[in-house]
Amino acid sequence: MKTRILRDIEVSEVGMGCMAFSHGYGQIPSEQYSIEAIRNAYDHGCTFFDTAEIYSPNLSGIGHNERIVGKSLKSVRNNVAIATKLFLRVGPFGDVYKSVREHLEGSMKRLQTDYVDLYYLHRMGSAPVEKVAEAMGRLINDGLIRGWGLSQVDVDVIDRAQKVTPLTAIQNIYSMVERDSEAKIIPYCIENNIGFVPFSPIASGLLSGKITPQTQFEENDDVRNWVPQLSRANIKGNQPIVEMLKDFAAKKNATPAQISLAWMLHKYPNVVPIPGSKNKERIIENLGSSNVDLTENEFTELENALNGLKVYGHRGLGGF
Ligand SMILES: NC(=O)c1ccc[n+]([C@@H]2O[C@H](COP(=O)([O-])OP(=O)(O)OC[C@H]3O[C@@H](n4cnc5c(N)ncnc54)[C@H](OP(=O)(O)O)[C@@H]3O)[C@@H](O)[C@H]2O)c1
Repeated sequence: MKTRILRDIEVSEVGMGCMAFSHGYGQIPSEQYSIEAIRNAYDHGCTFFDTAEIYSPNLSGIGHNERIVGKSLKSVRNNVAIATKLFLRVGPFGDVYKSVREHLEGSMKRLQTDYVDLYYLHRMGSAPVEKVAEAMGRLINDGLIRGWGLSQVDVDVIDRAQKVTPLTAIQNIYSMVERDSEAKIIPYCIENNIGFVPFSPIASGLLSGKITPQTQFEENDDVRNWVPQLSRANIKGNQPIVEMLKDFAAKKNATPAQISLAWMLHKYPNVVPIPGSKNKERIIENLGSSNVDLTENEFTELENALNGLKVYGHRGLGGF
């Protein structure tokens, strides 16, 4: 697969979000299936894997997902980039470095590795971002992380952090129906050599065209019950976007999910999406978006069509 550089870390142009093997999209697969799916993605050229310490069934514990990712990638560790994230519960006067380091050591143990490629603060808490940036800079110097990032942040926070320790990547929600980051954040990232890693790039499945107003989500641990674009009314409202995507995909001999990813890859040179799926075949389908090259005319056609369609539901940077 083609690769991209997140500041100085080379990764496959499309990465893999591993969350759903532990949390967020209903029943989780067996550990064996999850490990096979991750290895299969690697065999198809994926070298960028996204996890977080908090990804566990019902968010009730720590490390379920990191353990699976660690087991899956142990034997190919040096050929892949692993990204994980921490939640920091330390106030303005706490020892931020000590606390971040403790979290990191836990993650490294579960991931069976002695370094993490990309370490994100999952959400801003009460610690000032400058202190977090300083701690991350020390961890880079310690050789424990190769780079660092922030998730769900706006440009002023990014700028404050960047001035202390240059960022490797920003991981925000971004898709054809969640475009807040286009105004200031992605341009800032391009200008400052920061990668941009969109999460929920298929809008939690909406842009695959497989979800209809009749689709029943699961009762337990399924974020689709509250993703704004996926309420019954909004699935209906968003049908014109899905239909446009389906028509375009048919002409291009690709799938709607692939087109939604190819669109962002074409649009920005620093974007590396991390679609999530707990289904082996769909994971490979999503990685295949790297082979769907859009011409300038095709891209403009998509962009114009999108700009002319109303999006129903908005999660934005404030949402969990
Ligand atoms: N930083 C953060 O705060 C944050 C928040 C959320 C997620 N993330 C990361 O981002 C990754 C991706 O986000 P996400 O999983 O929320 O959203 P997503 O990739 O937009 O969508 C995942 C959903 O779409 C379905 N899907 C994926 N590919 C499909 C395809 N080709 N055809 C049909 N359906 C498809 C999946 O169903 P199946 O499983 O049935 O295929 C799943 O229900 C996560 O794994 C996680 O690593 C980060």
